[in-house]
Amino acid sequence: MSVGIDEISFYTSSYYFDLRTLAEVQNTDPEKYYVGIGQEKMGMAAPDEDVVTMAANAASPLIERVGPDAVSTLLFATETGIDQSKAAGVYVHRLLGLNANCRVVELKQACYSATAALQMACALVARDPRRKVLVVASDIARYDLNTPGEATQGCGAVAMLIGANPRLVSIDPEVGNYTEDVMDFWRPNYRSTALVDGKYSTKIYLKSLKKAWESFREASPLVFEDLRHFCYHLPFSRMAQKAHQHLVKLNKAAMAPEQIEAQIEPTLSYNRIIGNSYTASMYIGLCSLLETCRENLAGQRIGFFSYGSGCVAEFFSGTVQAGYEQHLHADRHSKMLSEREALSYDEYLNLYRHPDPRDGGEHELPHITRGRFRLAAISHHKREYIPC
Ligand code: CAA
Repeated sequence: MSVGIDEISFYTSSYYFDLRTLAEVQNTDPEKYYVGIGQEKMGMAAPDEDVVTMAANAASPLIERVGPDAVSTLLFATETGIDQSKAAGVYVHRLLGLNANCRVVELKQACYSATAALQMACALVARDPRRKVLVVASDIARYDLNTPGEATQGCGAVAMLIGANPRLVSIDPEVGNYTEDVMDFWRPNYRSTALVDGKYSTKIYLKSLKKAWESFREASPLVFEDLRHFCYHLPFSRMAQKAHQHLVKLNKAAMAPEQIEAQIEPTLSYNRIIGNSYTASMYIGLCSLLETCRENLAGQRIGFFSYGSGCVAEFFSGTVQAGYEQHLHADRHSKMLSEREALSYDEYLNLYRHPDPRDGGEHELPHITRGRFRLAAISHHKREYIPC
């Protein structure tokens, strides 16, 4: 029996800010963003959207298909936590109408935790192959204005049903891990934006890739040449290009630049126009590969590099299943992305500065999201989520 990703769906806000507009305001060359970091647009959450509503939007089409009783566990990965105690997934559990016997927990380790959730889900499915595990990863990437990180913001959520004999990608059991206590990117509880040592974070990312790959090579019989495409954690798409060049060099693989590029380019299309979605980003990259790559990927092995600052990294692999293309949500995703609305600089600042009330008073939120669920109010320190 194989175990892995049976179905995958993602969601991002209906509003985006174009990095050309940011470059204009900053009097910077837009090519710095479009080429230098490889990003074009960044998703901006509406005031009545957060990690809960985005996750429910991503997951609802999957639950509509399998029914709420098929899911034994909901694992919610995020680094945009809304509560120090209650798991955000409990709200999602209600919004999706999941069975009361379904367990729910939230996982955190920067952008890595969705991969921990995926591996735990595979183990749970191996124990009880009749049920599925729902993994959701949902984040809003926020940095201070007028910092180098500002251009690498974004928002998005991904939902994956993990099951036995999966229809999309089986996941191999061998993994390579690397953990080191470093301060490259972090967000203390009292801050709404992340702190980051940008250049250092890119160096640690590459070091972790080398270490996780070496650990993977000790665990797995696979060699570099067995892997056809590579999905990397995507803080910005140029990071994946640098990482892949690094991996090719480590393996002394004789490849032309176009061949190196072809192994990752199809994974980048969605993230270039959504921006960083932290925990969700590598899996939105997988959606991009499965849904936009012109080649038939059936039978191909994919390498995955998951990185969470602080830091924990993991390299693992999986195989695309025959017939995968019949089980994708490509049309819905492409419609959602093409119908988004561009924000002016002032509108972007309004969304960026939207207050996160902490006073325990009554706060009704305007209905702005075009998603299926919204945060309608915050009242007496309680968040009220409703379907639209
Ligand atoms: N045309 C083309 N390219 C240009 C250009 C122009 N006019 N102007 C500049 N560039 C290029 C630069 O040469 C540079 O390319 P190289 O890296 O290949 O040298 C690139 O654009 C970026 O320019 P800078 O070096 O000036 O970088 P910056 O100071 O603007 O900051 C950054 C870049 C450090 C990534 C910053 O965006 C940042 O801090 N981002 C947040 C942190 C981050 O994403 N880190 C990634 C690793 S950590 C992680 O992965 C976890 C996570 O999700 C956060």
